[in-house]
Amino acid sequence: MSGPAVARSARRPLDEGARPTDSRRRVTLAAATTAHAIAPASVECGVDRVELAPGASVLPRFAAPIDALLREGVEAITASAPFRHMQTPGGFTMAVAMTNFGPLGWVTDKRGYRYATLDPDSGLPWPALPEAFRALAVRAARAAGFGDFEPDACLVNRYVPGARLSLHRDADERDFGQPIVSVSLGLPATFLFGGAKRSDPTVRVPLEHGDVVVWGGDARMRYHGVLALKDGVDPLFGRQRINLTFRKAG
Ligand code: SIN
Ligand code: FE2
Repeated sequence: MSGPAVARSARRPLDEGARPTDSRRRVTLAAATTAHAIAPASVECGVDRVELAPGASVLPRFAAPIDALLREGVEAITASAPFRHMQTPGGFTMAVAMTNFGPLGWVTDKRGYRYATLDPDSGLPWPALPEAFRALAVRAARAAGFGDFEPDACLVNRYVPGARLSLHRDADERDFGQPIVSVSLGLPATFLFGGAKRSDPTVRVPLEHGDVVVWGGDARMRYHGVLALKDGVDPLFGRQRINLTFRKAG
């Protein structure tokens, strides 16, 4: 089965020359998601959007134009709130290293999953969410059809080759009416997007540097995860993938 052609916009990412072309990339994305109808849609002028399911979209390369700025922000955070491997309530150490920006930070330890105003390692508030990060998340949510997103939490995930994130739902937030905005930077990854039950089939969504996935509305509580990261070197981020997950948590 071949997917429909995906709408193209006139606006091109600023640094496209350094990356695979969009046309090659679209074929990959469409081929990988044939299990679900993939509907080309354009909500805002100049923004490409690929619908994964009602309420869930990929915005290819949406964050690429500000990737250098995002890298600076991520580098700066490591000085005040370094990446750490948190413990799950069951006592396992997470393969993905994490830290947070913003008034609320997602944490896990033997007491459970929750949002905390203070970094448990330092006892200090999490570093403030840089305005450019916040604005990117708000614009992405709007481009995906969620007009009044105001994030108060930005979880920063670091994957090194081999690291994976098992299927889960984002369920520690107060208001499930608000979407999740997830920004991929660095090495490519395969995102798994499932259904309402953990046992539901998943589609494999290839994500590249600069891609943004937004899920809310009917898709807000869907299971999702990330396959083990393949080795490689990204020109800007090196041998890692960074994921920024923006949420309205409180
Ligand atoms: C997450 O679900 O928290 C992260 C997803 C990703 O890394 O793409
Ligand atoms: Fe998640």
